[in-house]
Amino acid sequence: MIFSEEILKWYRENKRQLPWRDTRDPYKVWISEIILQQTRVAQGMPYYQRFVAQYPTVSDMARAREEEVLKLWQGLGYYSRARNMHATAKTVVSKLNGKFPETYEGLLKLKGIGDYTASAIASFCFDELQPVVDGNVYRLLSRYFGIDLAINSTAGIKQFKELAKKVMSTTNIRDYNQGIMEFGAIQCAPRKPYCLHCPLNKSCVALATNRIAELPVKLKK
Ligand code: ADE
Repeated sequence: MIFSEEILKWYRENKRQLPWRDTRDPYKVWISEIILQQTRVAQGMPYYQRFVAQYPTVSDMARAREEEVLKLWQGLGYYSRARNMHATAKTVVSKLNGKFPETYEGLLKLKGIGDYTASAIASFCFDELQPVVDGNVYRLLSRYFGIDLAINSTAGIKQFKELAKKVMSTTNIRDYNQGIMEFGAIQCAPRKPYCLHCPLNKSCVALATNRIAELPVKLKK
């Protein structure tokens, strides 16, 4: 079976039920991805629930006072994320008629939305063929394909993104992208990956060459 099919199959059998996976509302997906940028799922979940309950639509968030948004954010740290989020909610309402852009390129123009978040929203909500490359995906790709380019170097970032695009599924894009992140997070875990029971273990370069612990490579800056 090819790589992308294995990912899709594994995801169907192993996915966690997470609230932002039940929606294609770009507003809700956006909130979840901003929260989860530097926060674990277990910690981020109650924040996601509170934000969506307090502000069911982007107009509700745009109308809120900044202090109130920051109060809801309390405990997550990196307050610039919350400020950018609030600013972007206002932009979407005032400049875009309350509608999020439906393409990667359009999303990238918004404050606080970089390559990863734009890819996530465009692929999860609009099935655009954009790979999501987060830390989990770097780990999985570097091990499976045996790539020792630093994941925080300019050349590394470019190459991993190209590879991620090349191997991604062209159907079920939403599930594939959720799936490759989930696979990296759970199956191809950082310290003790479950190689013995991994569906990719027969063709994993790092496993075959005993380099699981060495990959991915990250430069100290
Ligand atoms: N971490 C970042 N984005 C995520 C998502 N969509 N699902 C699970 N964990 C994530």
